[in-house]
Amino acid sequence: MSTPKLALTDTSAAKLTVEALVIGIVAGADGPELAAGSEQVAAGFDGDLAKVLGTLGATGKADEVVKLPAGNGLRADVLLATGLGKVTGEAPTGEAVRRASGAAARALAGFSHAATTLGALDLSAAVQGTVLGAYSFRQYKSERGDDPVAKVDVVVPDAKDEAAKSALKGGSVIGESVGAARDLINTPPNDLYPASFADRAAELARSAGLEVEVLDDAALRKAGYGGILGVGAGSTRPPRLVRLRHKGPKAAKKVALVGKGVTFDTGGISLKPAATMDEMTSDMSGAAAVIATMVLVAKLNYPLEVTATVPMVENMPSGNAYRPGDVLTMYGGKTVEVLNTDAEGRLILADAMVRAAEDEPDYLIETSTLTGAQVVALGKRTPAVMGSEDFRDRVARLSQASGEGAWPMPLPDELRGDLDSKLADIANVPGHRWGGMLAAGHFLQEFVAGELPWAHLDVAGPAYNSNSPWGYTPKGGTGVPVRTIAAVLADIAENG
Ligand code: BES
Ligand code: MN
Ligand code: ZN
Repeated sequence: MSTPKLALTDTSAAKLTVEALVIGIVAGADGPELAAGSEQVAAGFDGDLAKVLGTLGATGKADEVVKLPAGNGLRADVLLATGLGKVTGEAPTGEAVRRASGAAARALAGFSHAATTLGALDLSAAVQGTVLGAYSFRQYKSERGDDPVAKVDVVVPDAKDEAAKSALKGGSVIGESVGAARDLINTPPNDLYPASFADRAAELARSAGLEVEVLDDAALRKAGYGGILGVGAGSTRPPRLVRLRHKGPKAAKKVALVGKGVTFDTGGISLKPAATMDEMTSDMSGAAAVIATMVLVAKLNYPLEVTATVPMVENMPSGNAYRPGDVLTMYGGKTVEVLNTDAEGRLILADAMVRAAEDEPDYLIETSTLTGAQVVALGKRTPAVMGSEDFRDRVARLSQASGEGAWPMPLPDELRGDLDSKLADIANVPGHRWGGMLAAGHFLQEFVAGELPWAHLDVAGPAYNSNSPWGYTPKGGTGVPVRTIAAVLADIAENG
C-alpha cells in the first residue's frame, strides 16, 4: 500500500498551484449546490460554477464525480466536484464527507498533486476518506495502471492550529491502519497462510513497538488448544496463535481483542460449493482488523493496556482433517462435538477467547467473518454486534458514529438449547439453519468468563467487497471493523 502524503494549508484554494482541486457538491432540489468550503473556488471560477456543473449533468448525489477545466481565475488545472448527496440536517454528515472524499480520491489516481476543500465540512472525515479512497492493491498485477494520487493538500483556516494538526494525524493513522488490514486480506491464501501471516503480524507489531508472542503448533499442543489444532489438522500448513500487547501510559483499563484468522476456509470435510469459494481468502479479516488496530493503538499510544489474541489456521479437507462427529477438547477443558467442519471459526475463537480472558481484561472485543447468516440478516455493508447488552449497545453506537454502522443483535435464551450435544458439553452447530448468526453468538458466549463485558462483531458481509468500489471502499478487503474497534478503545480510554 502507498498512502498519499497529506498536508494542511491555509492558502486560499483559489491560489493553490495544483493539478486538481476538489470541491463538494450537495444534491439540491433544483440541481447541484456548492458545499461550504468551495466559496473561494467559486469566486475564482469564471462563471456560475453550480450552474456549469448542472449543465454538465452533475446532481450532487453520493459517489458522483465530475471533472472540468478549472479556467483562468484559478491556479489549478482541473476542478473535481464530488457528490455529498442530499443534506437533511444542518450540514453533510461525517460519513457523507468521508464517502465523497473517498470517491474523489479514487478519481484522482494518476494525479501527483491535488488539494481538497472538504476539510471545511469535517476535517478528520475528509482526511480519512482521502486516505481510504486512494488505496489500491496492485502487488500481483504486471500492468499496474495509474498510481494513487501522491500528495493532497487539505485547505483549513489555520494550518498551525493544534486541533487541526491532531485531526490530520488521527485521520491519517486510521487510514493507514485500515490500509494495513486491507493489504493482509487482499494477499492471496497461497502467500498468506498461518506461519506467513504470523510472521507479517509480528513484523508489523514489532515495528510499531508492541510486545509479540507467537505460539507454533508444538506450543499449541503442549498448552491444549484443541479448537485451533482440530480445525488446523487438515492443512499441511500448521496453525499459529499470535499474541500482541500494548501497555500505554497511565493504563487504567485492560481490553482484550480477538480476531478470526482462517487464512482460507474450504469448509473442510463439510466442503463448501466451488462457486465464490475464492472469497474465503478473506476469512482472516477479523484477525487483520485486530492486528491493524493494535498497530494504531501503539502509534497513537492509547492510555490503555490492550492485548490481541489471534488464532491462525487454514481449514482444509484431507486425510488428517477433523471430521463431523469428532469431539474436541478445547483450551480450558470444555468439550465440543463437531457436527459441521465448516463452522470452524467459533472453534478457534473459543480457544482464543478463553486464553484472552486469563489476563483478566475489563472488556473483550471479538470480531470475525463468522456466518453467512450475518449477510442474510443485514446485507453486505452492515456488521452485526452481539454480546453483553450494555457493552453491545455501546459498541453499536460508536460503530455508527464511526461510519461503519454495526447494528445490535440479540442472543435469545431459547436458542441456546439447540446447541446441546448428545456426546459432549456443546455442539458447534444447531440441528437447523434458523438464526445461524445468533447460534454462533451463543456458542461464543459459552466461552466468555462470568461477568466480563464482551462484544462479538460478525463482519462476514462488510469485511469484503466483491462488487464495484464505492465511496472510500475499494474492491476486496475493506478493513471493517478497524474504525469501530479504534473508536471503542478511544471511548474506553476516555470514559472507562
Ligand atoms: N467463513 C464462513 C462464514 C462466511 C460466509 C463469511 C460468507 C463470509 C461470507 C464460516 O466459517 C462458515 O462457513 N459458516 C457457516 C456456518 C454453518 C456451517 C453453521 C455458514 O455460515 O454457512
Ligand atoms: Mn466455514
Ligand atoms: Zn470461516
